[in-house]
Amino acid sequence: MDRLYPDFSVTEESFDREHLAALLGGSSDTDLFSVANKALGENMGMGVYLRGLVELSNVCRKNCLYCGLRRSNPSVRRYTMPFDEVTAVIRYGYSRGLRSFVIQSGELPDREHIDLVERILTWTNAELGDVRMVLSMGELPRQVLDRLKKAGAHRYLLRIESSSHDFYSRFHPSNDLHSYRDRLNTLAILRETGWQTGTGVLIGLPGQTVQQLADDLLFMKKMDIDMCGMGPYLSHRDTPLWKERETVLPAERRVDLSLRMIALLRVMIPSSNIAATTALQTLDPQGLEKGLSAGANVVMPNLTPEAYRKDYNLYQGKVIVDDSLDSLLERLSVQCNAIGRKVMMGNPGDPQHFVRRMNTPDPECEVIGND
Ligand code: 5AD
Ligand code: SF4
Repeated sequence: MDRLYPDFSVTEESFDREHLAALLGGSSDTDLFSVANKALGENMGMGVYLRGLVELSNVCRKNCLYCGLRRSNPSVRRYTMPFDEVTAVIRYGYSRGLRSFVIQSGELPDREHIDLVERILTWTNAELGDVRMVLSMGELPRQVLDRLKKAGAHRYLLRIESSSHDFYSRFHPSNDLHSYRDRLNTLAILRETGWQTGTGVLIGLPGQTVQQLADDLLFMKKMDIDMCGMGPYLSHRDTPLWKERETVLPAERRVDLSLRMIALLRVMIPSSNIAATTALQTLDPQGLEKGLSAGANVVMPNLTPEAYRKDYNLYQGKVIVDDSLDSLLERLSVQCNAIGRKVMMGNPGDPQHFVRRMNTPDPECEVIGND
């Protein structure tokens, strides 16, 4: 191990761009993953924490060039789950031991949508109490974020997608709705206003380099984030990026890069929560086990009723398992046990990173980015 990591150990703070890029670009080696696992065990333990995913709505005002749910895709049947159906799946998940739920939707900051999310949060707090509610619904103004936090949300996931301003601009229309600066600001606001803050990037976008991915890691380290969800890019035929599909790295390379990103981030922010994402599981049938073995400790079983789930297609090929939640949880538990890991039911799984952050005074967090 020392051989491969002469200039950083788990405790060392110095991470160097070229070194990270070399590790990302290297051929497959297992040492990186054992270093990451050691960091995980020492800081978070080897438990696997679950979040029940509810894909609340696929309506989105944005037009990201890679995403199947982009506003200009007319072939999506748009839906928003009614309140009663959302609370029914959350109640069911809770009865099976889930203690954290992700409410995910496209970006839609209109009054009706925010009211619905607020109502769900208020209900969850009143009815269930000891759960951690996670929101993943794009950029929202500060007052709206405050309101949702007050209603009972704890965590927010907002991927920066790419920390390079230039590269971000390649995959988003150049207008105010898709401003890199606004995204960065929202992330900083979340972090400064007491949210458990998560971000992440797309891995394997056309033209992306290992240096850019190394910068993404350094960005997350500098941002001092609590949680991360990052996974491989997958093409979708109803997006402008489909025409560049021939230039996308082969699936195995995107999987390998994603695993290396997970492992390196685990070493860089050892007490964070890192997800083995659905995209990774879509690209590789062993994606769940591989992601966890690379240093991830979070999995998000999908609770969205099938009728809606088939219309929540960010990318092509999303696996639709129509198992009952019981058999899904059983299968997850078997898969985790097989790699020596244990699913932590009945546990909301707060990132230690956040717990520590809340107990230490914050040096002022500047808004940083990679311009
Ligand atoms: N491939 C992989 N991930 C995607 N996302 C959107 N489109 C794709 C795609 N084609 C991810 C983005 C977004 C999250 C909700 O889904 O990173 O932040
Ligand atoms: Fe909307 Fe998110 Fe898709 Fe962008 S990535 S189009 S914000 S759902």
